[in-house]
Amino acid sequence: MSAQTHLSAVVDGRWHHRGVGVGLREAYAEETFCRLGTELGWFEVITENYLWPTGIPKPRDARKLKSHLRLERMRGQAPVVFHGVSLNIGSTDPLDKKYLRNVRELAQRFEPLWISDHLCFTGVTGKNTHDLLPLLYTEDMLKHVAERVGRVQDYLGQRILLENPSTYLAFEESQFSEAVFLKNLAEQADCGLLLDINNVFVSAHNHGFNAREYLSHIPFSRVGQIHLAGHTSGKVLIDTHAEAVTDAVWQLYEEVVSVHGPRSTMIERDANFVPFSEIDVELRRASKILARRHS
Ligand SMILES: [Fe+2]
Repeated sequence: MSAQTHLSAVVDGRWHHRGVGVGLREAYAEETFCRLGTELGWFEVITENYLWPTGIPKPRDARKLKSHLRLERMRGQAPVVFHGVSLNIGSTDPLDKKYLRNVRELAQRFEPLWISDHLCFTGVTGKNTHDLLPLLYTEDMLKHVAERVGRVQDYLGQRILLENPSTYLAFEESQFSEAVFLKNLAEQADCGLLLDINNVFVSAHNHGFNAREYLSHIPFSRVGQIHLAGHTSGKVLIDTHAEAVTDAVWQLYEEVVSVHGPRSTMIERDANFVPFSEIDVELRRASKILARRHS
């Protein structure tokens, strides 16, 4: 990772606004490629999709190499950002050195604008649940996670972004709300935040808190990226990324941008892959909101 790449992401201590982007998914790979550098200022990939147990794939591994070559080609059109799901930052397991080494090696090759993961734990005692599990928001956990974030950042040589999760349970023993925990964590660890507005909306509904009150605690100078996605409605809202972004989430997004200014914003779609023209509508809507505030 060159220092220059990271400096281009953070200007005067603020995260540089890069316009709208999209999460690269197989179903939309061609459409994404066509729009890179024009309608799309950047794109996000799931870090783990490009990692293998032995790190960068060797030339003999044709299939794996193909995906790296495609990423190289796309990155030639617009910058990439890495979004991980295995950092396991809240776990009591030691940090996974092999995973971090592979991420660092991948980042040295593709020079992402930034690297993000989630405020959660994904497993303990070496077992990976492949789920983003909620944390207990206590002083001890804050100290624990801040110290681990610091070590990750030192190792990767850059600040990372942590995303607020969507949650379906909470712990009575928590001493902070999630938003206050995130604020304290970002300040103590000197890390950035990836604000997923749909996750705020989903968790607010599921736990009965006020989404706007949650957002009022977020230190926006540390927000480097915003996720917008759809959820599945029911008694409990499920963060499926299988539906269009709801009007209520658009409303929150518009309020955030209007008060705090534009941030690099991305549409996340992970299931029910509708024609890309429908994603285009959402991208244009986000672009308009950003441009309105920018002007
Ligand atoms: Fe997200």
